[in-house]
Parts: sequence; C-alpha cells; structure tokens
Amino acid sequence: MAYTLVTGEDFGTLALKSLREAFEQARKFPLVVLPTGNTPKELYLRIRQQGLGGEEFQYLNLDQYHGIKFSDPRSYPLEIKKEVLDPLGIGLRPDFIFDAEAPPDQECCKIETAIEKDGGIDICVLGIGENGHIGFNEPYSDFKDRSRLVRLAASTRKANAKFCDPHGGVPQNALTLGLRTIFEARKIILLTNKPDITAKALHGRVWSNIPASILQRHPDVTVVATPRVAAALRLAA
Ligand code: PGA
Repeated sequence: MAYTLVTGEDFGTLALKSLREAFEQARKFPLVVLPTGNTPKELYLRIRQQGLGGEEFQYLNLDQYHGIKFSDPRSYPLEIKKEVLDPLGIGLRPDFIFDAEAPPDQECCKIETAIEKDGGIDICVLGIGENGHIGFNEPYSDFKDRSRLVRLAASTRKANAKFCDPHGGVPQNALTLGLRTIFEARKIILLTNKPDITAKALHGRVWSNIPASILQRHPDVTVVATPRVAAALRLAA
C-alpha cells in the first residue's frame, strides 16, 4: 500500500508538520476532522504553542457519545473546542457537530448534508483503537456505512472508562462519521502509537473486522507513527 510514513521522536512536531503540509495542499477554508483521545494530545499542544500558520478552517466533528450534552465533560467536540479551536480563535458551526441529544437519524442526515454542501472533507485526522476502529466504527462496520448511531464495543468502553467514569460512565452508544464518509476525505492523516493493530490494519487483510484496514485503499494517507509503530510497519511491509 502506498501511504507516507512520518516518524521520529517528537511526535507532536511531526504531526503538526504533516497537518501544515496538508493545509498547504488543500483549498482555502478547508473542512477538517480532528480526533480526540490520548494520541493527538501532543499535536494539539504544538498547535497551541506554534499555531497552524494562520490557517482558518471549518471543524467537523468525528464522533460523539450518544445522549450527552455538548457541555458534558465527556463531550468530544467540547474537548476539541477547548484544546484547539478556542486557542486558535476558530468558531464552531452546529451543522458540523453531532447534537447527541437530538434524534440520531436527523443528526446523521444533518452532518452528511453539511459535508456534501461544503464540498466534502479536505483533511481527516484520525487515531486508531486497539480493536482497529476509526472514529467509533467498531469491528464489523461496513465499508459503505455513512454517519450513524453505533453500539460501542466492550473493549472501547473499557479503554475509555478511566476518563468517563468520574462523569457518569461510558455511554453505550455513540454517533460517528461512517467509514464511507471518512474514506471520501481527500487527505487522511493517521496518528498512531499502537504497533500491532496499526501493522495489521495497514498491511494485513482488508476486511471489516479491522475497520482501519479500509485505509489501504485510500490514495492519500500519511501515517504519523511513533518509532515503535514505524518499526512494526517496516517489519510488516
Ligand atoms: P487513543 O484512542 O488516542 O486514546 O489511544 C484512539 C482511538 O480509540 O481511536
């Protein structure tokens, strides 16, 4: 597969460089997906320290727990607002955020329509779960899936318990951009510190048991990997 591998000790700086390069190649005011979780934290720190080179963009929500308020401490778009958008002075538009209290079908339709009207996703930054999920597309998601309500895998709920437990626990369900929606992004940047699953996803069988394996079919993927992940990828190649 033809992805570009970026690796080195300073993960945040490398990720920021990759994101800046993606901005240079994208149209003006691009539509950009940003993930939450531990992996992107070093990138967001570098963005706060160094900015993004004055770039304006439209933020698109990747996923959100179902049934919670935007202001809930577990809320993913709230986390991105605090960590990235507010420091850069970039606003949120409700059309591009899952309202997790509204009827799920309505919200998914709203998001898909907003993406289409805006001309499609320019840059989709992703993390990867230990089970191979991207967004909240858990194993056995269909490659043709669009945004929808999903039931979270037990392993995902366990992985996210540490943060969610003090705030009412990990919800059972979530809203997520679908694999097809993600796949249609012009540029994908995968941030990863997980050697085994990343090697499996990028060099193993392409199938829905490992949702991230869909990335093997995408024409423009940059993988920002820790040195351990890069070693595993080179071994698997
Ligand atoms: P993490 O999560 O960055 O917290 O490891 C990634 C994911 O589950 O998508």
